[in-house]
Amino acid sequence: MDATRQTFLDELYAHGRAYDEKRDDRIERLRNVEPETAELLGVLVRALSATRVLEIGTSNGYSTIWLGDAAEAVGGRVTSIEIDPDRTAQAADNLSQAGVDGFVDLHTADAAEALSGYADGAFDLVFLDAERRDYAAYWPDLVRVLRDRGMLVVDNTLTHAKELVEFSELVYSAEGVTSTLVTVGAGVLLIVKSP
Ligand SMILES: C[S@@+](CC[C@H](N)C(=O)[O-])C[C@H]1O[C@@H](n2cnc3c(N)ncnc32)[C@H](O)[C@@H]1O
Repeated sequence: MDATRQTFLDELYAHGRAYDEKRDDRIERLRNVEPETAELLGVLVRALSATRVLEIGTSNGYSTIWLGDAAEAVGGRVTSIEIDPDRTAQAADNLSQAGVDGFVDLHTADAAEALSGYADGAFDLVFLDAERRDYAAYWPDLVRVLRDRGMLVVDNTLTHAKELVEFSELVYSAEGVTSTLVTVGAGVLLIVKSP
C-alpha cells in the first residue's frame, strides 16, 4: 500500500469512527469495516488474483478504497453497490482523493436488483457488507454470480451472529460450498464456491 494512500485511509477511518460515535441511529452511521478486515480483503483479492470484485454496501468508500488498491495490484476492477445516492457521492469523492477511482465502478442501486442482473460466474470475489436481514434472500444470487472457486466474504458474522442465523443455516447446509469463520475484526465468514 502506497504511504499516501494509507495515510488517507487512516484519516478516513478516524473520521468514520468520530462521525458514528455522534449518531444513535445505526442506519445513519458510516459503519466502516475494521482496518484488519480491510487488510484481509486486500490479501484475499491478491491471493485469488480476483480481477472481478463485487462489493455490496459501499458507504463512504472506506472498504472500497482497499478493494480498489488491490484491484490496481492485480489488474482488476471493483463494482460497488450502494442504495443511498449521497453515500455514493461521498465514496466517489473519497475514491478520487485516494487515487483508486480508475479501478472502481460505483453504482447507486438496490443490491437485490443489481445481483439479479449479473451473469452467472461474473465475479471472482464478492464482499457482502449491507443490511444483514437481507442476506438470506441474496444467497441464491450470491452463489450464482460467483465463478467456481470464487469467494464470498461476509462481515459481522461474530458481532451480529443472531441476525445471521437464517443466512448461516443456508451457508452451512448448502452443497457445493466450503466455508470458515475467521476471527478478524467483527468476524469474517469466508465461503468458497467449491465442494
Ligand atoms: C456497513 S455499511 C458498508 C460499509 C462499507 N463496506 C465500509 O466498510 O466502508 C452498509 C451500507 O450498505 C448500504 N445498503 C443497505 N441496504 C442496501 C441495499 N439493499 N442495497 C445496497 N446498499 C445497501 C447502506 O446504505 C450502507 O451504506
